[in-house]
Amino acid sequence: ETEPLRGAINADQGETTISRHIYGHFAEHLGEDIYGGFWIQDDQNNWQYNQQVIDALNQLNIPNVRWPGGCFADYYHWKDGIGPRDERPDQVNTIWGAVTEDNSFGTHEFMGLVDRLDAEPIIVGNVGSGTVEEMNDWWKYLNHEGPGPMADLRAENGREEPWGVEYFGVGNESWGCGGQMRPQYYADLYRRFAEYLRPQVGTDPYRIAAGPNGDDYEWMRTLMEEAGYMIDGIDLHHYTIVGTWENKGSATDFAEDGWFEAMQGSHYMDELLTRHSTIMDQYDPEKETSLIVGEWGMWHDPMPGTNPGFLKQQNTLRDALVAALHLNIFNQHADRVRMANLAQTVNVLQALVLYDDGQLVKTPTYHIFDMYKAHQDATLLPMAFDQGVYEHNGEETPAVSASASQDEEGRIHVTLANTDPNQSRTVTTELRGQDVSSVTGRVLTAEQMNAHNTFEQPERLTPSSFDGAQLDGNTLTIELPAKSVVSLELR
Ligand code: AHR
Repeated sequence: ETEPLRGAINADQGETTISRHIYGHFAEHLGEDIYGGFWIQDDQNNWQYNQQVIDALNQLNIPNVRWPGGCFADYYHWKDGIGPRDERPDQVNTIWGAVTEDNSFGTHEFMGLVDRLDAEPIIVGNVGSGTVEEMNDWWKYLNHEGPGPMADLRAENGREEPWGVEYFGVGNESWGCGGQMRPQYYADLYRRFAEYLRPQVGTDPYRIAAGPNGDDYEWMRTLMEEAGYMIDGIDLHHYTIVGTWENKGSATDFAEDGWFEAMQGSHYMDELLTRHSTIMDQYDPEKETSLIVGEWGMWHDPMPGTNPGFLKQQNTLRDALVAALHLNIFNQHADRVRMANLAQTVNVLQALVLYDDGQLVKTPTYHIFDMYKAHQDATLLPMAFDQGVYEHNGEETPAVSASASQDEEGRIHVTLANTDPNQSRTVTTELRGQDVSSVTGRVLTAEQMNAHNTFEQPERLTPSSFDGAQLDGNTLTIELPAKSVVSLELR
């Protein structure tokens, strides 16, 4: 038995909105994310949207999708992906698996997808191997009302009205696969490319700069200093890896060491956000520029027997805990972090769903997004509490992670995760500033750390109703099972 962890939620002190865009997603031309995921062939080899995937995602109120990459974005020439499908050129996807890219999924198909998902598009332009003219043409193709060459071309291809795309990334990982640039050089290029993403009738650009690789604070400082005045969002990327880049370990076959490292690695996101925000505060105390976490999630060794360039992996209770910790951390940083995109939605990395030949399975991570969706656009409630300690082999990481918000109807939502796989934790928190009379909840947990869903057993790990929370006046006591995630609603 451990001591109860004490805390307080201040329901009358909420100031910051948790942007729904924190609950965003990412779909790249990589492996079976687009082709074989969102976009599938029927019996006659005609391409079509995958309605099963769309239906599953629609339950999560997905706010946005980032596309076409990732690294692929700086290889992609968007004009290959418009016009009649049978006239579009084949390319080789040299960055991911060296497979044929038939360009059947292009701008119109992506805009049709986000329309079906009722989500905002985030388009990443090509800086690494593209030109200012090419990016500027894409921007006008998306947004210029016409008449003009790009608006006319769009109309010829079946779309009269401009789409009004606001979120536009100026390159991806420009320090790496997006051009191996140094920060000063990228800052100058950013200024040049971004200059031509100008407001169109009805559309103001939200210009996103390729941000730092994890703890590259120099990249952040240079960008803020040299180009900050033109940047709406800076896109930080950081993945949670157990082991080394060369040997990340199996998604499903791991012991407590691999569990502990993932929990510790997730808490590192808090340090990254705190330190990058501190740098941004020096240049932008009004917090006009957002910090975006445009790629995050667990990256394991590829599933045995799959193309290693496809980054396909299973997803267990461990991934669910990692997602829960990250989302709590993003919520807590909502004053600066206004967008995040889990990598990647279907069949790639920490996917929400796995799909193969007519079969779909929701991963444990999918269920976390479902349990957390009530935080979208709610007001963050300040919450202070003792996180406790999860100790393993002489090392420590916080045991409990949590965040709280209040929605427009006044309901309070609390999400908590207990990272300790061996011991339950009791959290006792005072609710200040508002009276509530009922608490209901859901829990995701399992006997085994590596519990996961398969096509054969799709419901092995799903949330169940939670009866471990009690209200006594304004004191809320929660018994968090070992290795669990709990979401509560208080009225
Ligand atoms: O998500 C996979 C890859 O990881 C992306 O293409 C790239 O941006 C990052 O390095």
